[in-house]
Amino acid sequence: MDMEQHISRRIGVIGTGTYGRALAKRLVHSGYDAIIGSRKPACRILSEYDECLCDVQLTTITECVTLCEVVFVALHSEHFADTLSPLTEIFTDKITIDVSNRDSPSNKTSNAELLQSLLPTAIVVKAFNTTSASVMDNYIAGGRRKIFIASNDVIARDRVSNLARDMGFGPVDLGELTSSRRMETYVTRLFPEWKMPVLVTCVIFGIWCLYTIYDYYIVYTYSYDQLFLTVLNMPICTTAITLMALIYMPGCLAAFMQMTYGTKHKPFPKWMDAWLKSRKQLGLLCFILILAHVLMSIMLISPANYGSWFHSTAITIPANLTHDLHLPMKTVMIWKGEAASLAGIVAFILLCLLATTTLPSVSDSLNWREWRFIQSSLGFTMLCMSAGHVLIMGIPGWMDAGFPKVLTFFSFLSLILPASVVLMKLILFLPCVDRYVSKIRKGWERNTRRLHTNTGSTDERHCEDGM
Ligand SMILES: Cc1cc2nc3c(=O)[nH]c(=O)nc-3n(C[C@H](O)[C@H](O)[C@H](O)COP(=O)(O)OP(=O)(O)OC[C@H]3O[C@@H](n4cnc5c(N)ncnc54)[C@H](O)[C@@H]3O)c2cc1C
Ligand SMILES: NC(=O)c1ccc[n+]([C@@H]2O[C@H](COP(=O)([O-])OP(=O)(O)OC[C@H]3O[C@@H](n4cnc5c(N)ncnc54)[C@H](OP(=O)(O)O)[C@@H]3O)[C@@H](O)[C@H]2O)c1
Ligand code: HEM
Repeated sequence: MDMEQHISRRIGVIGTGTYGRALAKRLVHSGYDAIIGSRKPACRILSEYDECLCDVQLTTITECVTLCEVVFVALHSEHFADTLSPLTEIFTDKITIDVSNRDSPSNKTSNAELLQSLLPTAIVVKAFNTTSASVMDNYIAGGRRKIFIASNDVIARDRVSNLARDMGFGPVDLGELTSSRRMETYVTRLFPEWKMPVLVTCVIFGIWCLYTIYDYYIVYTYSYDQLFLTVLNMPICTTAITLMALIYMPGCLAAFMQMTYGTKHKPFPKWMDAWLKSRKQLGLLCFILILAHVLMSIMLISPANYGSWFHSTAITIPANLTHDLHLPMKTVMIWKGEAASLAGIVAFILLCLLATTTLPSVSDSLNWREWRFIQSSLGFTMLCMSAGHVLIMGIPGWMDAGFPKVLTFFSFLSLILPASVVLMKLILFLPCVDRYVSKIRKGWERNTRRLHTNTGSTDERHCEDGM
């Protein structure tokens, strides 16, 4: 290796903290010479943390920066000024990678821009802030994990991209240093897309819990011994099927709205857009609830709990000459129990399939048509099988109870929304409706008028009603 090549493989890391050490270790594993710069090199013993760092040179910050063309700044941003400002001169033309994160989001400034203002002659690059020290520390990890890169210097961005690639990551160039605001904000997020779906699930679960308490403990007098499985199973499965309906309802409403608008180019209202975008989260929450329902139901299925699912029989033991002893018994399942279980099992298998396709490794291997087939067609089949599962359980009881008592049944109430979605889908499947929606989704607009322009050419314009 000649001298020039050797220097370009030399990378500095300022800071002996958790991330600084992890970066140095990863660099060593990737064939680079890492040099760590510390305020107190004499007091730090790197090998005590990790023996892979035994051969890493530990020096002062000044020497580290002087020896390297590329330097990671693994410090908290509040220490940039006191630790680095006195060294402004030696940072001239050094590619200085800021990896820091902030506690609260800001779209006005970023740590990287602060660093650039403190070190005006340095070439500041924002990168590596979205990975964690544990990922950096584990050489096997990385793979498809993205490293976002922002800097005002194109050559520096390229150099850091190559470095990220050598370290086993996938670089993504975000352009100018102002993008660092987004990169830092991204790390301050805490599952924002889950907030609404979780809230909706909690509200629905709360409503079903209240109705279960009313039905099981006020109308009927259930034993409190059955609270944790038998009783809790009911709000869990009814919440799940309600969520399932809420997942497939907005796709139908979107189609009806597009038919009303007569175009696909008019944006949906904000609430509708948010609803469409939260279907994945609602789906995964539904999956978790059904998993609990299946496990609970498997524990519970027995003639003692679901008498109406099993054949009745009675064993008669002639006890003595004066009277017989009758022992009522339940034996194998009747058609209702078996059919309801089969429909439930098929629905559950389809649900597992849907959940599997949300895994990036699976979804990446599917083309758009395959993904739509599983999520939309099989998803709708799953909704129908789930409705069938409940319908088979419910219908015999509905017929015995009659109207209006049927309105109090869990099976009836929990089917109102799924049945509405099935009905909407059936309307959308009608050939004339399907053709019309497809036409709109391919770009056709109802209110398109042919306008003749001054030049004599024909111009197609979309006009709102009344224009
Ligand atoms: C376990 C599980 C996991 C799931 N994972 C995911 C997931 O990873 N990602 C996901 O998106 N859903 C996920 N879902 C939700 C659901 O399965 C899919 O959203 C499914 O595609 C919905 O099918 P659909 O036919 O109702 O609507 P769509 O497939 O969306 O189709 C309806 C039509 O509406 C129109 N449309 C839809 N959205 C818009 C929009 N924003 N703007 C304009 N037009 C629009 C399209 O033209 C489309 O043809 C999951 C569900 C479950 C149960
Ligand atoms: N930890 C992670 O998983 C992770 C992930 C992504 C980004 N980051 C970012 O990386 C940066 C470092 O994080 P970290 O977890 O490594 O922090 P840390 O463990 O607290 O280490 C910070 C290091 O900064 C050095 N330092 C320099 N000047 C300092 C000063 N004035 N006061 C205190 N320390 C000073 C210290 O090393 P010396 O004493 O040797 O000088 C210290 O070990 C942060 O900005 C963080 O946001 C961390
Ligand atoms: C996606 C799959 C499933 C959905 C959406 C679902 C949904 C429901 C709903 C809403 C009910 C209440 C019906 C009523 O009140 O009568 C119910 C009841 C029941 N389900 Fe499921 N279910 C599913 C899968 C399964 C599976 C796989 C099993 C196990 C074999 C199962 C077993 C039961 C049992 C035993 C009941 C009766 C509960 C009771 O009355 O307390 N379900 N299910």
